Amino acid sequence: MKVEKMTIVYHEPIARNIYQLILGGTLVQEMNEAGQFVHVKVGERTDPLLRRPLSLCDINKEASECTIIYRKEGAGTALLSEKKKGEVIDVLGPLGNGFPLEAVQAGQRALLVGGGIGVPPLYELAKQLVKKGVTVTSILGFQTQDVIFYEREFASLGEIYIATADGSYGTKGFVTDVIGGRGLSFDVLYACGPKPMLKALEQKFPDKEVYLSLEERMGCGIGACFACVCRVPNNETAYKKVCSDGPVFKVGEVVL
Ligand code: FES
Repeated sequence: MKVEKMTIVYHEPIARNIYQLILGGTLVQEMNEAGQFVHVKVGERTDPLLRRPLSLCDINKEASECTIIYRKEGAGTALLSEKKKGEVIDVLGPLGNGFPLEAVQAGQRALLVGGGIGVPPLYELAKQLVKKGVTVTSILGFQTQDVIFYEREFASLGEIYIATADGSYGTKGFVTDVIGGRGLSFDVLYACGPKPMLKALEQKFPDKEVYLSLEERMGCGIGACFACVCRVPNNETAYKKVCSDGPVFKVGEVVL
């Protein structure tokens, strides 16, 4: 983990309120795991609350560039969205533990399930799995057609299904409706998205190998402030920190 001033190589909206940010710098050489995140300083003051945790969507070591996709939805990300190509930005990372690649072997099938702004880390995961020889099927859920992104990119790596809550594109409903409707089989399931989606997957596949990446509000991002704790099952006092113990957990490891 390091802090680096990274340079904005590209920064444009790619769907309604969804921005693609490509950063260049040597910090990319430290980035390895899909599902890890960086803590990006969105303002100029030293206030640590001006950092936002953003997951890595694509790691390109050859070009020393990483891609982040985020949704503009509050004061912090609104500030971030104003930054222009060529500006530098203070980045702390890489942070957290990503998706375990060793959970699936070459020739096996992985199901990747993403909801909304939980979709980005699954792209780097899909790339790494395909490189390993794993067959990848992606199911991506969005609220509406105008917030869909990266359909083509996921399609280049395997089978893809899209669900929208309002039915404006793909299957009407949720990612679980796609899984149920298609009877998709898999050896390992990896998911990232809102808690109700993760809970639904946990209930649907109690006996399967499932890894979930939690989206949690964060403060420090490095295990020091307790802003991101979540409970451990069957234990009133134990907890885990999403930022440093996660954000990826095996199903059942924490209470959703
Ligand atoms: Fe501070 Fe996790 S964000 S402990």
